Amino acid sequence: MAFNECSCSNQALPYKNLISCGLQPGRTITIKGVFHPKGNRFYVNLRHLHGIALHYNPRLCENTVVRNSLLDGQWGTEERGGAMPFQKGQPFTLTIICKECSFRILVNEMFAHCFTHRFFPLHNINILEIDGDIQLTSVSF
Ligand code: GAL
Repeated sequence: MAFNECSCSNQALPYKNLISCGLQPGRTITIKGVFHPKGNRFYVNLRHLHGIALHYNPRLCENTVVRNSLLDGQWGTEERGGAMPFQKGQPFTLTIICKECSFRILVNEMFAHCFTHRFFPLHNINILEIDGDIQLTSVSF
């Protein structure tokens, strides 16, 4: 089964799971959680063997969402513009849609960010990691 193969509720952090067969255009990851009332940051990493294809890192203290990649231990150029749709104490639904050329990222079903792919082939991106100052309600992909 290519889609919705994993649907897990009330996950412990750090969360780590294998995305079998890896990413492909159209594959969608949906993460539901609640930002801790006194929380500051969390991250979602989509990993491959040599690093992180997408590091998605909301930081309340900086009022921004940092997006970046990591290759062979080196961070790339941060992308910081755009929406800051997360709030302390609030539930959220984060949807990451893998498109052919980019990740399209929605928060609470509203477009939030786009991150042009820096790593190919997409099917080698096959690990999902989540950690930080949230309660993780559910993950599906
Ligand atoms: C660093 C931080 C990393 C990661 C990176 C993204 O400053 O220590 O955890 O968020 O920024 O560019």
